[in-house]
Amino acid sequence: MTGPVTVDVPLDDRAYQVRIGPGLLARAGAEIAPFLKRPKTWIITEETVAGLHLAALRAGLAAEGITSEVFVLPPGEGTKSWPHLTASVEWLLEQKVERGDIVVAFGGGVIGDLVGFAAAILRRGVRFVQIPTTLLAQVDSSVGGKTGINTSHGKNLVGAFHQPTLVLADTDVLGTLSARDFLAGYGEVAKYGLLGDAGFFAWLEENGPALAAGDDALRVEAVRRAVQMKADIVVRDETEQGDRALLNLGHTFGHALEAATGYSDRLLHGEGVAIGCALAFDLSARLGLCAQEDPSRVRAHLAAMGMRLDLADIPGPLPDAEGLLALMGQDKKVVDGRLRFILARGIGAAFVTADVPGDAVRAVLAEAIRTPAKA
Ligand code: GLY
Repeated sequence: MTGPVTVDVPLDDRAYQVRIGPGLLARAGAEIAPFLKRPKTWIITEETVAGLHLAALRAGLAAEGITSEVFVLPPGEGTKSWPHLTASVEWLLEQKVERGDIVVAFGGGVIGDLVGFAAAILRRGVRFVQIPTTLLAQVDSSVGGKTGINTSHGKNLVGAFHQPTLVLADTDVLGTLSARDFLAGYGEVAKYGLLGDAGFFAWLEENGPALAAGDDALRVEAVRRAVQMKADIVVRDETEQGDRALLNLGHTFGHALEAATGYSDRLLHGEGVAIGCALAFDLSARLGLCAQEDPSRVRAHLAAMGMRLDLADIPGPLPDAEGLLALMGQDKKVVDGRLRFILARGIGAAFVTADVPGDAVRAVLAEAIRTPAKA
């Protein structure tokens, strides 16, 4: 295997690189050293990641003479909250982290979002490096500078755009994910093909099962292509005034399903996105925007990957179509009371619209509720 591959995120004075490949934890010192004003870093991580990978990261930093202080938070979505934000910021202040220093976010999307936000507000902004440890974080949340926390009013409602200085996506760490967590992250990978690159989706149809089974080179290539697509979109629309909303394909349905299942283990975020993508194609087909075969093709790929693809695959009771529609109304993509949807004119051809009749959404949900689980 050759060295890491690089995706550039050319955002003027906020430009950075995403480095992708195996062995990046061991190389972390060499990768980060050019950005340090003094040979010291502050790592914020969570217990599970710390147990599995912290020693490797610290050794990689120490190999270049970089010392590291560590703050370990509890795992789980509950960490993306005011109390843990406060604790992180207070710890960084106690540690006397200066404006010129670099904080390291080492974990999945929860840690990346929380630590990125802590860095955004500490001394009015210090730099941070993302070292994402889940597939979902490597292909989505670590890139693009969205940071923040959840509040009692909903998810991601408080935050800031704060771009990282560097992203190190070590594909070796994906080997320690459970199959379920890996496949949930894969929901976001498939999303990229579905929203903007039919060729990538066809590549995933051919290579997805082998990359899920552990093929390293295929994993690097899937992460690289997804991150390149994200970088292209973020450069066009950093603060989501337009095109960046395409990245929310499957999320309007997915967020409603996550809310309906109480953000619990019944449905992981990436699983909701995958089912949501299938429903977005159902809705697009119902509105005559894409071929009738497209939703089946989406589901055939999810099925080939061993993923959840229908509402019936979610254990436990769900609200009826009206109840799910009401939960969609809570989505933060509501503008002037109208839901914004990401629909598609075909595989790889998504677009943003606020022009979706509620009856069509209701009909898609009602049919999805009637569809029995696959054996
Ligand atoms: N995760 C969607 C975005 O970064 O815009």
